[in-house]
Amino acid sequence: MGFEVRPEQPDDHAAVRRVVAAAFGADDPRHGEDVAQIWESLGHHRRVGLVAEERGVVLGHVGLSRAWVDARRELVEVWVLSPLSVVPERQREGFGTALVAAAVETARGSGVPALFLEGSPIYYGSRGFERADRRGFLPAALERTPPAAFQCAVFEGLEPWMTGQLIYPSVWWQHGAAGLRDPDLAQLEERFAALE
Ligand SMILES: CC(C)(COP(=O)(O)OP(=O)(O)OC[C@H]1O[C@@H](n2cnc3c(N)ncnc32)[C@H](O)[C@@H]1OP(=O)(O)O)[C@@H](O)C(=O)NCCC(=O)NCCS
Repeated sequence: MGFEVRPEQPDDHAAVRRVVAAAFGADDPRHGEDVAQIWESLGHHRRVGLVAEERGVVLGHVGLSRAWVDARRELVEVWVLSPLSVVPERQREGFGTALVAAAVETARGSGVPALFLEGSPIYYGSRGFERADRRGFLPAALERTPPAAFQCAVFEGLEPWMTGQLIYPSVWWQHGAAGLRDPDLAQLEERFAALE
């Protein structure tokens, strides 16, 4: 493996912006810029970034940021994994897998009981994640998140009472990045129907 995964530093700002915008902007550059902006806006919150670097060049990035589970007893602090980005010309070389593994270990090491994400159950399901609804969690965008796409990795601090709805900080809502909307929502529900 000719690359390393290391914590994002302030000096990585421009490189991370470029990587996130390229990964999410392959079809629509405006979408790429928007996702890059979400990550920057989360800088005002508690967050941790990791980068995949090869010979001094940042080729991939993963973001972890703080959210909560609204349990009956109290709010429980958790992490959310998003965005996950690999530059288009270097995808399918294992950068994404290494970044997800490092993100899971970082979340585990921080002592939170769970790490959540919205994403492909095929990709993340073989990389340490499972369906979060089957653990008693509800997605932040209740009506707009296909159940198979709402996933979590749980850690030893998870206790039986820690169930409830995932609460995102306002950044996700301001960018319309909580759950999906039609027609994407309907398309994905159809694709995931076979996994239900
Ligand atoms: C998703 C992404 C981070 C994967 O990174 P990567 O470095 O290419 O991933 P890896 O090399 O570790 O793994 C490649 C595998 O992931 C699969 N994969 C890639 N993107 C996928 C997706 N959106 N859904 C399902 N599987 C996907 C590939 O088919 C490949 O599978 P294979 O090995 O069986 O052929 C990268 O494709 C990317 O940046 N995509 C654009 C941004 C994005 O969609 N991020 C995830 C949002 S939840």
